[in-house]
Amino acid sequence: MKRVFAEKITSTAQKITRKLLIRAAASSKPMLTAFEILNRVERARLMKITVDVPDGTSGAWKVETFEVSKSEAEFFNIRAMYSGSGMGRCIRPGEYKRLMRNRDVIMSNTPSEISDHVDFIIRAKQSKRILINGLGLGVCLKAILESDKVEEVTVIEKSEDVIKLVAPTFQNDKRVKIIHADAFTWKPPRGARYDAVWHDIWDYICGDNLSEMSKLHRKYGKRTDFQRSWCKKECQKLNRQWW
Ligand SMILES: C[S@@+](CC[C@H](N)C(=O)[O-])C[C@H]1O[C@@H](n2cnc3c(N)ncnc32)[C@H](O)[C@@H]1O
Repeated sequence: MKRVFAEKITSTAQKITRKLLIRAAASSKPMLTAFEILNRVERARLMKITVDVPDGTSGAWKVETFEVSKSEAEFFNIRAMYSGSGMGRCIRPGEYKRLMRNRDVIMSNTPSEISDHVDFIIRAKQSKRILINGLGLGVCLKAILESDKVEEVTVIEKSEDVIKLVAPTFQNDKRVKIIHADAFTWKPPRGARYDAVWHDIWDYICGDNLSEMSKLHRKYGKRTDFQRSWCKKECQKLNRQWW
């Protein structure tokens, strides 16, 4: 009688243990590899990149320092979460820089803007020759130049005013070539090839950008095996929603 009772207890204990183990295995998150951990640390660091371009105005363009207050950050973050753009597009209170054309913000170094560039920056930092279409505030350029592996960065910028405001900040870095030209018509030097190409010439995320992205990808596809356009997936998503 005692033995039957003891066996019952043992088998119940075994069942419970097995259930607990299965639950634990199902709930446990996969371990991060060393590469993934380093990648996350690097992403977090890049989100805080500062801009050295001084404040100034040229024509319709302006570089200015601005503050994001705690309440503005909270409002922005709640809107970002409800719009489905997620935590990656959140912002922290603090001091930032922005590039304005008239009253429109074209680029800033808020984490929300940088997050759209981070994948390309990480890839470009492992490359030697890089081409960027669209200088903007030079956020992407500054981040890429941190890497010793980078030997040359060519930047094509259409606005002379943007060049006047931003280019002097990079004039002491021999690896940088800033060219006043239109990305659609500029002719790369004969035989030039790039390890990574970034197209960021648009003011807003918009489905209409896709045809221009295709044009640029066709044109520069002959010069590189790796090119990306700013927020291409988001533009594609918008187009799917519309049609
Ligand atoms: C959003 S900003 C780029 C931001 C930049 N990625 C950064 O890290 O600061 C876009 C820039 O592209 C430039 N641009 C617009 N159309 C262009 C074109 N067709 N060719 C070259 N540059 C262009 C604009 O004058 C502007 O400076």
